[in-house]
Amino acid sequence: MNSRVEQYQGLATQAKGLLAATDDPVANAANLAALIFNMLEQVNWAGFYFLRDGRLLVGPFQGQPACVEISLTTGVCGAAASSGKTQRVADVHEFPGHIACDVNSRSELVVPLYEGGSLIGVLDLDSPVINRFDQADQQGLETLAEIYLEASDFSYFNK
Ligand code: SME
Repeated sequence: MNSRVEQYQGLATQAKGLLAATDDPVANAANLAALIFNMLEQVNWAGFYFLRDGRLLVGPFQGQPACVEISLTTGVCGAAASSGKTQRVADVHEFPGHIACDVNSRSELVVPLYEGGSLIGVLDLDSPVINRFDQADQQGLETLAEIYLEASDFSYFNK
């Protein structure tokens, strides 16, 4: 087993513990973003965008200040949200419509967050290194996204 897979197994265990304290989706997003940002190397942005009024609105994150709104038809986040498929982009300069929130970002991994068939938002990671994310990162982040969805009650968003 390679070390990246083992690292994600450890992160999944930590995330389950960290997210057990509350089912508030904002609190859980804040702590998961901080965990990911601090535990993974070569990541310059990690965080959430949530679906609000038909577009993605920035949520809890770690990194440089980011674009506030992203349309569902734009960028890597929009592609993940509208397709329901994880977007793993080796070189964002080659991705049509990529939104450069931080000019240092060169590769990106975006996991869509769906619950019961409804789009909740996306989990987005940026790296200053080209081709930073591999299949192990994708599977690891998809697992962390599942842990986040299971730990959170999205009816809070309607209160
Ligand atoms: N690069 C993203 C926008 C969000 S930032 O990276 C934080 C995109 O193209 O969707």
